[in-house]
Amino acid sequence: MTVKVAPSLLSADFSCLGDEIKRIEDHGADWIHLDVMDGHFVPAITIGPVVVKSLRPQTELFMDAHLMVSKPENHIESFVKAGANLITVQAETTAHLDRVLRGIKDLGAKTGVALNPATPPSVLEYVWSLLDLVLVMSVNPGAGGQEFIPTVFPKISYIANQIRSRDLSTELQVDGGINRHNGPDIVRSGATVLVAGSAIFKAEDGMSLIGELKNSGQ
Ligand code: DX5
Ligand code: ZN
Repeated sequence: MTVKVAPSLLSADFSCLGDEIKRIEDHGADWIHLDVMDGHFVPAITIGPVVVKSLRPQTELFMDAHLMVSKPENHIESFVKAGANLITVQAETTAHLDRVLRGIKDLGAKTGVALNPATPPSVLEYVWSLLDLVLVMSVNPGAGGQEFIPTVFPKISYIANQIRSRDLSTELQVDGGINRHNGPDIVRSGATVLVAGSAIFKAEDGMSLIGELKNSGQ
């Protein structure tokens, strides 16, 4: 079974994002992973809706916006209007997760919830029916190029079992420190979408990794 690969633009060359998108598209990328950071939930500040709006006409690829921001409810509409297809909010950033997810759906976008490495999957218990995607963070959010945190493996398997036993079509995305060495195990644990940034954009042979990761479940 092939998994989807969503290269994270965070590690791309920001002076030519249009060209970088073309490169990953030419090498078989399924999605584009947009890391949005507000300098508050995480120290770094990255991109806003205006960048998404400028990239949208450059590609047909599915864009998933990973909002690593406080008060995500204040930003969802602008990212959807800019052209993001899926909005992922961090479970840790809102006390009103059900309301935020319903708000994303009302805007016509797909929904996702991201769990930091220390966040238990129990937060998903009462929102499964609202979820198009669960994002298991395998690094602490805020930067690319970090080491994969292996303690998330049981969480990936647990969530995969929840999705299977509830007969849901929810995507299981894993994000952070993914490379050709750990990709197969992550897929075997149940991931259906792999996010990789530095392994794709910062390595000599990074573009070929897209195809390798897509087939890492074989
Ligand atoms: C981290 C981001 C990740 C990161 C992945 O806060 O959410 O998407 O950019 O980059 P790598 O693959 O380099 O860990
Ligand atoms: Zn991300």
